[in-house]
Amino acid sequence: MTDNTSKTHGAILQDAAPGTDDGVIVELRNAGKAYGNIRALHGVSLKVRPGQVTCVLGDNGAGKSTLIKIISGLHQHTEGEFLVDGAPVRFTTPRDALDRGIATVYQDLATVPLMPVWRNFFLGSEMTKGPWPVRRLDIEKMKQTADHELREMGIVLDNLEQPIGTLSGGQRQCVAIARAVYFGARVLILDEPTAALGVKQSGVVLKYIAAARERGLGVIFITHNPHHAYMVGDHFSVLRLGTMELSAERSQITLEELTNHMAGGAELAALKHELSQVSGVDVEELPEKEDLTAPVAASPEGTS
Ligand SMILES: Nc1ncnc2c1ncn2[C@@H]1O[C@H](COP(=O)(O)OP(=O)(O)O)[C@@H](O)[C@H]1O
Ligand SMILES: [Mg+2]
Repeated sequence: MTDNTSKTHGAILQDAAPGTDDGVIVELRNAGKAYGNIRALHGVSLKVRPGQVTCVLGDNGAGKSTLIKIISGLHQHTEGEFLVDGAPVRFTTPRDALDRGIATVYQDLATVPLMPVWRNFFLGSEMTKGPWPVRRLDIEKMKQTADHELREMGIVLDNLEQPIGTLSGGQRQCVAIARAVYFGARVLILDEPTAALGVKQSGVVLKYIAAARERGLGVIFITHNPHHAYMVGDHFSVLRLGTMELSAERSQITLEELTNHMAGGAELAALKHELSQVSGVDVEELPEKEDLTAPVAASPEGTS
């Protein structure tokens, strides 16, 4: 559908560059990041392809935000390689990432709550009409376009005049996703878009993640919720203390395995043992120890 390769430099079209996977837009090879002498991320490899959702999972402090800051141009990697369309890059600002079609929707969303939905849709890239001295905002066109684009993504809002602050968190995420798609994103990075949402609203956001994938975008979906990840994910990467402890295609892992992995095998077993001594907790409902083995790299024993 969207011909992502047409914008790129020759190399990827010929599929000739050694080690270049066809269609991979963004790739990290053994990438890492140190803040001074704090090593936040180390040895991370990741590929983002068009029409796929790559989930990055991990507990707090695992390095998820550091990872997306590298890809979105906020920070630079200090180890390994970062490639876009098969060629090494080093972004110095988020503008560099945007110019290559990499858009990031942050948790705080950077919207102006009191401005109407359509104004927020065009924030910073307003449509204008008329020649220079009398150039003014093309309000009608912006409203129409925002309405059309939101509908294209299946988002129906009663009134685009309402301040964006009156929308639910889920709806605001969806407007941000539609906006990124409209402004030509090839890769969409979502930093924990469902973290602050209830079940129903999370479902709405997951639906638009799937819609973005259907439109051919490569999506990087950051979450600590394996259920959310598994609903839309094609690939799963689990970060733990700054390293990647699991990288699996959907066909290689079940939801149970992913959930157990996220919970941390040995730690969960220890927790289960402790809980068994507390009345009122049904430990039979918790996963068995033998279920806690993961396809890649077992958890270190005896971490406390
Ligand atoms: N700007 C920074 N300076 C120093 N350390 C940082 C900075 N940002 C993150 N870290 C550290 O890097 C590690 C990973 O953090 P982060 O990427 O924010 O994890 P996550 O998003 O998975 O919670 C943490 O130990 C955190 O304290
Ligand atoms: Mg974070």
